[in-house]
Amino acid sequence: MAGKKDSDGGWRTFMWNSEKREFLGRTGGSWFKIFLFYVIFYGCLAGIFIGTIQAMLLTLNEYKPTYQDRVAPPGLSHTPRSEKSEIYFEKSNNSTYKKYIDSMAAFLEQYDFIKQSDEMKYENCGDVAAPYKDRGNLESELGQRKSCRFDRKLLKSCSGLDDTSFGFKEGKPCLIVKLNRIVNFRPKAPSSNDSLPEGLKGKSFDNLIPIYCKNKREEDESKIGEIKYYGLGGPGFPLQYYPYYGKRLQPQYLQPLVAIQFTNLTMGEELRIECKVYGDNIDYNEKDRYQGRFDVKFTVKS
Ligand SMILES: *[C@@H]1O[C@H](CO)[C@@H](O)[C@H](O)[C@H]1NC(C)=O
Ligand SMILES: *[C@@H]1O[C@H](CO)[C@@H](O)[C@H](O)[C@H]1NC(C)=O
Ligand SMILES: *[C@@H]1O[C@H](CO)[C@@H](O)[C@H](O)[C@H]1NC(C)=O
Ligand SMILES: *[C@@H]1O[C@H](CO)[C@@H](O)[C@H](O)[C@H]1NC(C)=O
Repeated sequence: MAGKKDSDGGWRTFMWNSEKREFLGRTGGSWFKIFLFYVIFYGCLAGIFIGTIQAMLLTLNEYKPTYQDRVAPPGLSHTPRSEKSEIYFEKSNNSTYKKYIDSMAAFLEQYDFIKQSDEMKYENCGDVAAPYKDRGNLESELGQRKSCRFDRKLLKSCSGLDDTSFGFKEGKPCLIVKLNRIVNFRPKAPSSNDSLPEGLKGKSFDNLIPIYCKNKREEDESKIGEIKYYGLGGPGFPLQYYPYYGKRLQPQYLQPLVAIQFTNLTMGEELRIECKVYGDNIDYNEKDRYQGRFDVKFTVKS
């Protein structure tokens, strides 16, 4: 009959066997070999890992993304952005729209004119839409490129300068829209009237990517009211801000903005509005709701 004491003694001996000088059944030399093995083993793993990453980094170009084909049609994004693109507020209660105007104010800070005063970094690119502004070779190492100024004043009543509620307190909310930046992308202005919506047909857009918003559902047509657009050189994105040279060559680049103000939305109803940009190389995608367009749902209560 094995006594309890014996098995306890066996366990303790296993932990530290003073006769054979073994710890957990192994001698110091044996433990040392195991330790050495793992040091070398993990060292080699780390080496392979670092080597692979280094080899991949060598294939990347510092100035423009190596694989760019999948992002070419630009995304259109707007501020404020909200869950499920629903914007609900009561114009008489400022706490219902505080989060929207706070995000707009924060976003527009980078467009403060005072932050664009450095002549080495910014230049004036005119106040009408103009052709692309070439700033030399994309891959050259030579210095940084200037960027065009974009003063938030251009957004008029949506600039947040005079009305810090961006129209929300009057029930005339603004949205601020930008085209997402893509290195070396030159958006093309629409060359024919065929692809344009009714509201833009007959107008000419030489150096502008126009944006246009309308009701998404037929029955809302009479409830959307007048929509105003503020920007540089018309209701859209002027081409002199393109192409973008990338974070490294144009670190202080500012995208041109368009502010959209809904001045007469019908109160108390959920209204779906779709905004789209139009250009010869701008596409839309069933699966990506932000490619070249976006839609928002407004519900304004008094
Ligand atoms: C204003 O809205 C907030 C948040 O929705 C709500 O908690 C508050 O009761 C409202 N105030 C008034 C006066 O309706
Ligand atoms: C909201 O409105 C109340 C009174 O209507 C005012 O006291 C308060 O300062 C306003 N808050 C903001 C953030 O404007
Ligand atoms: C659309 O048609 C009008 C008048 O026919 C013309 O002036 C304008 O340039 C055309 N727009 C485009 C984008 O071709
Ligand atoms: C606002 O829209 C209503 C119809 O929804 C219309 O009767 C009214 O004239 C519009 N107001 C302005 C200033 O356009």
